Amino acid sequence: MSGNRTLTMVKPDAMRKNHGGAILAKIEEAGFRLVATKLTKLSLEKAGEFYAVHKERPFYGELIEFMSSGPIIAAILEKDNAVADFRTLIGATNPADAAEGTIRKLYATSIGENAVHGSDSDENAKIEGDFFFSKLEQF
Ligand code: CMP
Repeated sequence: MSGNRTLTMVKPDAMRKNHGGAILAKIEEAGFRLVATKLTKLSLEKAGEFYAVHKERPFYGELIEFMSSGPIIAAILEKDNAVADFRTLIGATNPADAAEGTIRKLYATSIGENAVHGSDSDENAKIEGDFFFSKLEQF
């Protein structure tokens, strides 16, 4: 149901450190249901498409280079108030500012390599979910 879903990616830094499973476990423990998931790798072009909204930012090149540097886990998560609750669970974009116990506090190292992505609105959650998953893959 729209409004109860968000899109996450476990980013290449966390996958390289073997934290993919631990992060998914934390997400499930927090009450989110996995309704779509895949291990995949973004090409530079696809990363650019996903983050097109940040095209004018000075960190855009670094961001899409990093996001295409290795495998990621993409997942659609379902829970009441999914977008806001998930952003609380992952913590601030910069792990230095992230609250204790949040996923970024536990697993992220820098603002660029910050372990996980979470959609910032219901509208973007739908767009981002459809970016990775066909309708048949969304349960
Ligand atoms: P994410 O939530 O995936 O969405 C946009 C990403 O841009 C963000 O996480 C950060 O990883 C990245 N980002 C934001 N600010 C910076 C920055 N100053 N330098 C590098 N990357 C950044």
